[in-house]
Amino acid sequence: MEKKLKSHGAWIGKWTFILAATGSAVGLGNIWGFPYKAGTNGGGAFVLIYLLCIVMIGVPIMISEIIIGRRAGNSPINAMKRTAMQSNTSPLWKLVGWSGITAGVLILSFYSVIAGICLNYIFIAALPSDALSSSDQFGAVIASPYNLLFWHTVFMLLTFLIVSAGVKNGIGRMVKILMPMLGFLLIFMVIYAMFNGAFIRTLEFLFAPDFSNVTAETFLSAMGQAFFSLSLGMGSIMAYGAYMPKDQKVVPTSFTVASLDTLVAMLAGLAIFPIIFAFNLEPNSGPGLVFVSMLSAFNQMQFGQIIGAFFFILLSIAALSSSISLLEPGVAYLSEEGFLSRKYSALAISFFAWSLGIGTALSFNVLSEFNLTPGRNFLDSMDFIANQILLPLGGMMIAIFVGWFMKKELITNEVGYVNQIIYKLWRFFIKFIAPISVASIFISQIL
Ligand code: TRP
Repeated sequence: MEKKLKSHGAWIGKWTFILAATGSAVGLGNIWGFPYKAGTNGGGAFVLIYLLCIVMIGVPIMISEIIIGRRAGNSPINAMKRTAMQSNTSPLWKLVGWSGITAGVLILSFYSVIAGICLNYIFIAALPSDALSSSDQFGAVIASPYNLLFWHTVFMLLTFLIVSAGVKNGIGRMVKILMPMLGFLLIFMVIYAMFNGAFIRTLEFLFAPDFSNVTAETFLSAMGQAFFSLSLGMGSIMAYGAYMPKDQKVVPTSFTVASLDTLVAMLAGLAIFPIIFAFNLEPNSGPGLVFVSMLSAFNQMQFGQIIGAFFFILLSIAALSSSISLLEPGVAYLSEEGFLSRKYSALAISFFAWSLGIGTALSFNVLSEFNLTPGRNFLDSMDFIANQILLPLGGMMIAIFVGWFMKKELITNEVGYVNQIIYKLWRFFIKFIAPISVASIFISQIL
């Protein structure tokens, strides 16, 4: 007899899942992470590998996560356990859910610090700028531990408040208008950059791959970025899938979410690099890239203070609609098991992530010389452990589970009617291509 777990409620309407999943996928990963990682990894070749990872690994795994989540209607831990038991295999598959929740906490801890910088930039962009150049401005922002910790706390509090309000009230609502607005503003920035920045050079940088500098690490970094950007490998999409109406089609929905996510990342690259090149800034300058380049643009632009503030408001909201999905799987688990109420579950996990985030906030200043793992400071270590190890590993296990262990009928029931060729292709990708690609990228890294 299966234990009865508390239910979380479902989303009403066809668009809510797409909006929520897109809200989860589109965030700092696209606008902060993608450009700076493309920049530090040399551009075009990274972008190409990233796109391949989205198509060959990301989309098939997204379909799988939704199938498992919706089938079970529970948090990732119980969804994995339940689906495994119904497929007559070991309940230990729930460990995938546990590793996901761990990854979620690690990611949330640094995500909140970066999102806090976005909140801070709303005011920096809005207030008349003093003599500081935009790179000095970024330097000043990260030099102060108190400043970073303050905004980190504000952002984590907002995340906590929304998740404790619950999926129906908190999460579904705010993405509807704000996500499209962010899209329009990004398109506006791309057009601005086209006329005022080094646009051709950007196209070359992003889309003319130079394979001479590609190493095993480029692959790992691009794959990690693909998982991160699509919110895969830790159960965010699985947890959201649990609230998806049964009549919604899994495959087209996954394609929609992945396309929107990729579009936003590309737009961000096209908005940011022309400015970087026009101002002779370094494309490989790291995590400050988006802040420095966008502020330079807003400082030059008419109505830049208003447009700039608006940009950082929307970016903060995009970050918030992602951070809630990092918290949701763990909260769903604790509350459906009845260990704690939703509110206290959210409080416990966000407090833990907040404490861990202090390390990231300090890695920009007082702890900048401290390496948590060899050659990596606190932020880089968190990013490395979560994005480049836990997410791909989680994703690979999900692919192996759905490809080799999950009962066929359970899968076909969830997928519903779909073009047979597409179904067969997906099966092939999830059985072979996705797990083998992840495994070989791991192995090549070790060798
Ligand atoms: N995808 C989000 C971004 O690009 C971040 C995010 C939300 C995430 N949920 C996740 C990353 C789950 C990895 C796993 O900003």
